[in-house]
Amino acid sequence: MAKEYLIVLLLVCVISVGGQTIDDASLLHDTLMSGYNKYVRPSVDQSKPVVVNLTFELVSIRELDEIMGKLSIVGMLWLFWEEPRMTWNPFAYNQTFTARLPMKEVWKPDLVIAHPVDSTKAVGFDHHWYPVRYYYNGVAIWTPGDVMTTTCNIDVTYYPFDTQTCEVTFIPWGSLVSELYLYAAQEMVSRRFFTENGEWALDKATTNTGLIDGKYPTYIVKLELRRRPTFVIVNVILPILFMGLLNVLVFFLPASSGERVSFAMTVLLALAVFLTLVGDNMPKTSQPMSTICYFLLTNLVLSSLIMVVTIFNLNLYHRDDNLVVPEWLANVVRLLKCKRLPRRTKVENLKKAEDENKKGTLENVETDKKEKLETVDAVRWALPAYEDRITWREVSKVIDIVFGGAAVLWLLITAAAFFIMVATQNVPGARK
Ligand SMILES: *[C@@H]1O[C@H](CO)[C@@H](O)[C@H](O)[C@H]1NC(C)=O
Repeated sequence: MAKEYLIVLLLVCVISVGGQTIDDASLLHDTLMSGYNKYVRPSVDQSKPVVVNLTFELVSIRELDEIMGKLSIVGMLWLFWEEPRMTWNPFAYNQTFTARLPMKEVWKPDLVIAHPVDSTKAVGFDHHWYPVRYYYNGVAIWTPGDVMTTTCNIDVTYYPFDTQTCEVTFIPWGSLVSELYLYAAQEMVSRRFFTENGEWALDKATTNTGLIDGKYPTYIVKLELRRRPTFVIVNVILPILFMGLLNVLVFFLPASSGERVSFAMTVLLALAVFLTLVGDNMPKTSQPMSTICYFLLTNLVLSSLIMVVTIFNLNLYHRDDNLVVPEWLANVVRLLKCKRLPRRTKVENLKKAEDENKKGTLENVETDKKEKLETVDAVRWALPAYEDRITWREVSKVIDIVFGGAAVLWLLITAAAFFIMVATQNVPGARK
């Protein structure tokens, strides 16, 4: 029995070689199209919905625009449904098992992107040549491809370590779920023709179906994109950090060289120019603001502060040595230099010391400091002994060290805080 069946099958195959002719194809086309109404959906019992199986084929990610909040992809929908009007006996048409009809002439689901950026149009309707493929048992396959642009809420708080989740939602325009039932045949988006994007890596791509108001079916393609941060790290963050370090060097430049202000100004200008250039690569959005903008701002603020401190410090450095450094400042400097504080005077000598201080001008005190400072203990309180005295230069040097250290700390802390806040967001599981 099985043997005979095999022989018959073999015979059929032999006959079928070159079986189908133009006449067969034309006849089939005419038969299928006669009395066909493309406005009536293909279900024998019109109280039942047409079940459309969908899969999504992602071809490429074109762009993700942070400012406009739009995602643009190239993709293809694969739609499968049953068309009871398109069934035939393949042997009546010389083994014609499949036929191809232009999409304009037959019924098909009109899928529209639910959140369009520009105009609302059904997927694939710009390309009227997309054919619908029918098999003799009534299965229809239609694969419209298009550039699909949808709006997407983009959160750049963690730029350039951000991940974005965007959804492309398709709605069969004007169809109720009781008429057209969408079924996601594959959970994952197919990537057979996928080309990687240089800026965005595709973490996950899934499909699902949903219902709006319990009535309107939707087909949802969900894409999880992760930004590739290397470009921004190499071209923005590292140069900014190095410029910051260069800026700190102003405190190690000898004040006597007279180059300090021009050096600090040059670095400040370089930073400002660089930030202008970098601005083109930054997400220009305030809602929400991206952390990197604050990070860049702290660097500019640091540079400006360094400029201010440099100028004030030069003023102190070049101050006349005859102007006595206020005692509290001198003490602070002594403390910072781990020097011994001058001895305190006895209370009864205070008055005397004040008189002494008023009587002689500072020059006088300078010239005959030997006797006076050694003999009058009280003057020691008002004007410390020569070797204990703190000059403006020393004050200036201490300020250099303190602010230099503070600036380095500022740089390190802001950079560390930025990386901890932003980069750790990308650790799997850190974000819900
Ligand atoms: C749609 O998917 C269902 C479930 O996998 C399957 O039973 C049905 O045959 C599919 N329909 C078509 C037309 O492919």
